[in-house]
Amino acid sequence: MSRSQPVVAIYPGSFDPITRGHEDVARRTLRVADRLIVAVAHTATQAKRGLFTVEERVEMIREVFADEPDVEVEAFEGLLVDFARSRGAHFVVRGLRAVSDFEYEFQMAQMNRELWDEIETLFLTPDQHYSFLSASLVREIARLGGDVSRFVSPTVLARLQARVGA
Ligand code: PNS
Repeated sequence: MSRSQPVVAIYPGSFDPITRGHEDVARRTLRVADRLIVAVAHTATQAKRGLFTVEERVEMIREVFADEPDVEVEAFEGLLVDFARSRGAHFVVRGLRAVSDFEYEFQMAQMNRELWDEIETLFLTPDQHYSFLSASLVREIARLGGDVSRFVSPTVLARLQARVGA
């Protein structure tokens, strides 16, 4: 990896749906990376359980970052490290909200490096206002009729309203 090359980072996740917290982490990444690929994991189990299809998640994320030419959005299947390698990306970005996130994230980072020793994981903390936010809570609150308008962008809110009447 030559340092004269652009820094390409991958931000993988389920993003069901993308929240303001994800958005914040992605925008912060652009302070250290030249290009960011937001990568929506496409696994059979996630597709079955999800509120939105992977295609819908990709569309929503593209809408959220329509103003950001350095952000690309793709779905991927299989191993993250294989996808990263195929895109020339040597950095994985993950948000760390609290200590409770750490164990799972540390395990994934170590395993990804075991699978491909040219990958590094960057952990970024979101704005403190989003430290309690998760897509699963957004889905639950929306399903139960709560107001999630400050947790997701307007385009995601519109889709949530259409899907669960939030
Ligand atoms: O938003 P999530 O659900 O916490 O994201 C988890 C994700 C998608 C980053 C992780 O499950 C993943 O990387 N899946 C791709 C398959 C893979 O590479 N698994 C081995 C990880 S060590």
